[in-house]
Amino acid sequence: MSELLIENLAELATPLGREPRRGKAQGDIRRVADAEILCRDGQIAFAGARADRERLFGELPETPRLDGDRGTAVPGFVDAHTHLPWAGTREEELLERLQGKSYQQIAAEGGGILSTVRATRAASAEALADLMLRRLRWMLASGTTTAEAKSGYGLTVDDELKQLSAIRAASRAQPVELVPTLLAAHEIPSEHRPPGGDRRRYLDLVCEEIVPAVAERGLAKFCDVFCEQGVFSAEESRRGLEAGLRQGLQPRLHADEFADSGGAALAAEVGAFSAAHLMAISDRGIAALAGSNVIALLLPGTSFFLAKRIYAPARRLIVAGVPVALATDCNPGSSYTESLPTIAQLAVFELGMTIEETLTALTLHPACSLGLGASVGSLEIGKQADVVLLDAPNLRHFAYHYGVNPVRSVVKRGREVYRAGNLVRA
Ligand code: NIG
Ligand code: FE
Repeated sequence: MSELLIENLAELATPLGREPRRGKAQGDIRRVADAEILCRDGQIAFAGARADRERLFGELPETPRLDGDRGTAVPGFVDAHTHLPWAGTREEELLERLQGKSYQQIAAEGGGILSTVRATRAASAEALADLMLRRLRWMLASGTTTAEAKSGYGLTVDDELKQLSAIRAASRAQPVELVPTLLAAHEIPSEHRPPGGDRRRYLDLVCEEIVPAVAERGLAKFCDVFCEQGVFSAEESRRGLEAGLRQGLQPRLHADEFADSGGAALAAEVGAFSAAHLMAISDRGIAALAGSNVIALLLPGTSFFLAKRIYAPARRLIVAGVPVALATDCNPGSSYTESLPTIAQLAVFELGMTIEETLTALTLHPACSLGLGASVGSLEIGKQADVVLLDAPNLRHFAYHYGVNPVRSVVKRGREVYRAGNLVRA
């Protein structure tokens, strides 16, 4: 039996349960002072007050210890929306945007997603996996222990398969567990645009060839579509998601990012696990989500990075009873960050979420949005022992102390896999 006792914690903070927490319940967090966590065979055997652990388990003299150093333990973060397998960079677009050009203008001039498609098509699966490993090191150092990763920069059968194979290889090569999503309907590739091409033919290719090829190889769990004005309409998106469902790929959706295009309502209708972005969601869209099991996946990094100064209506969503999750959207165009602590800062300061609601939005809710609520997302007996130790005397410091990486140590399946602050002696 492998064991680890995480001791000397000033506080343990976690949401509870396996299901999404709506309304006020999103902010209900179990906080225990002078806490410990006992990990056994990769799972949590105890999480609570030191005195209770001693009463239930005795001294445990043989058990290896991890010193919490009077910090705060929270569940490993779950980043449920990333575009990790890409090649190339787009730093010149950032300058153009800061000078006033819009994301859509840059895309219309041949930049944007299609420029990353060109670079990603030119890269090998091995090169993509290597690039992912660098990004995954940043993610782990920022406390992420489980992440979703999407294709969507290949846009041919072979290039989408290549991206998904790179996700599988990268997942096996380091501690962050990856959940793969097919996003072949991310953009219409140039060869399917007029004058020579026809967008309908591309959607046929997605539904009739790419989805079956991916499903047959077991390379994706989810199927996503970029439902947006000027990209895929709600009707086209429905077609893409239904093709996925027929092959056993569960739906999730990019919805209502720049314009209300009925994405939220579509997510509710098809039973999507999540609807992401939602900066432009309408009241009808909010009502549709509230009456469904869809999780609202907010990506405030894109509002910040695109210098939009428009954020998704997190408070209205929570008050309406929609479970809210947060993610980085890590990608080279609209949000180049691997850091969920940075996203947490934006949630508190720009979305108006409380620190307690934010913790649920980084752990239990994204886990549920990946269908993993029963095994990760909270510090409870029987769940996977994925734990982040924060250099903070209590949970509130996670929002209060800003601009630094608060992650001191990361435990994945009961093993310490990352520790910060190793000084190199001169
Ligand atoms: O989620 N919105 C669509 N896709 C990404 C951006 C991708 C890119 O710009 O490369 C997003 O923001
Ligand atoms: Fe995205």
